[in-house]
Amino acid sequence: MIYNFDKVIKRRGTGSIKWDAAELIKKFGISERFDDESIPLFVADMDFPCPQPVVDALHRCVDRQIYGYSTHLAHPEYFEAIQGWFLRHYSWEINQEHIVYSPGTVEALYMAIKAFTKPGDGVILQAPVYRPFYGSILDNGRKVINNALIMENGHYRIDFEDLRLKAADPANKLFLLCSPHNPVGRVWNREELSEMAYICHKHDVVMVADEIHGDLIRQNATFIPLRKVSGHEKIITLTAINKTFNVAGLHCTNAIIEDETLRQAFSKESGFKLPSPFAMEALIAAYNEGQDWLDQVKTYIDGNFDFLKNFLEKRLPEVKFRIPEGTYMGWMDFRDYGLDSKEVHRRIYVEANVILEDGEMFGEEGAGFQRICLPTPRSILEEALERMAKQF
Ligand SMILES: Cc1ncc(COP(=O)(O)O)c(C=O)c1O
Repeated sequence: MIYNFDKVIKRRGTGSIKWDAAELIKKFGISERFDDESIPLFVADMDFPCPQPVVDALHRCVDRQIYGYSTHLAHPEYFEAIQGWFLRHYSWEINQEHIVYSPGTVEALYMAIKAFTKPGDGVILQAPVYRPFYGSILDNGRKVINNALIMENGHYRIDFEDLRLKAADPANKLFLLCSPHNPVGRVWNREELSEMAYICHKHDVVMVADEIHGDLIRQNATFIPLRKVSGHEKIITLTAINKTFNVAGLHCTNAIIEDETLRQAFSKESGFKLPSPFAMEALIAAYNEGQDWLDQVKTYIDGNFDFLKNFLEKRLPEVKFRIPEGTYMGWMDFRDYGLDSKEVHRRIYVEANVILEDGEMFGEEGAGFQRICLPTPRSILEEALERMAKQF
């Protein structure tokens, strides 16, 4: 089936956090302006229809007319679909017993922090990074230990020297890895992953790898799951259909935890969680039949990245931008305009009425940057960029 991602599907008025949640957007400090004319390109979900096999599976589920408790534990197809996907894509053989369902990736981060650290312990992250990484640490009374990424000519790399020091400190017990990295878009390569895992293994630091953007990389990039490069047993991998197939509202994350002690500790923290019948059926359809859609959506997103790059070069030439290796987020550097970041914000959010995310949301290292989410019809992206260009 050929999908038409140019088609604009109206999401306003559907209770969408991206299109409707004006109060939340103000409350979280994302934008002081949000109205019916705003173009929101901040939340990481897609304005595209889901894979048709997922839609069909959900219809079948609705038609059953009963939405009682369901359990993947009695539904082997659920596990087989996950195992099949990771084997086909990453040659990763996952044992069914190692798969732990969680309603959300952020929820799983919170659970992992509680399960594997104590209040006051240090948790390492790599700023600038997805904001809930900080929340999961601070809300649980742990300390943020920042192994900040180093940026050179728009390319980000890991400060291994600093990571060695921080991992060697016995107060630091856990490392939250974002792989691929949101917002900087790096897809960590084999050497980088091996070195991080080697350091953590040496110092007995538990690694939680949030890999939910792993399937959404540029077509010429290669994603490698952390677990595939390292024998470090203390790795928790978070996977999800949420981003890959645009079903975040169905809440379906799966943690892969091989070590039994860690798995039990995690499960104890999270309690006995069951996916809804909708999440279960969506996962099976997505992993078994969603490949064709994913290939097409990746091509479209790559096209949006090319469009963004060309547009910026012509119309906003002071913005520094590189097409990222992974994720569907662009990370734009506005610092060469020489403006205060509040003024950049005012021009984009208030004057142009385009809602992005200020780089500072991801840590102070993000100051002067703006994050833009690209999985939207090109006409919407074009209008947003036109509006922005008029302000600079
Ligand atoms: C790195 C990362 N982790 C987790 C999430 C949210 O995942 P979930 O909706 O499954 O909690 C996002 C969403 O943008 C993300 O970028």
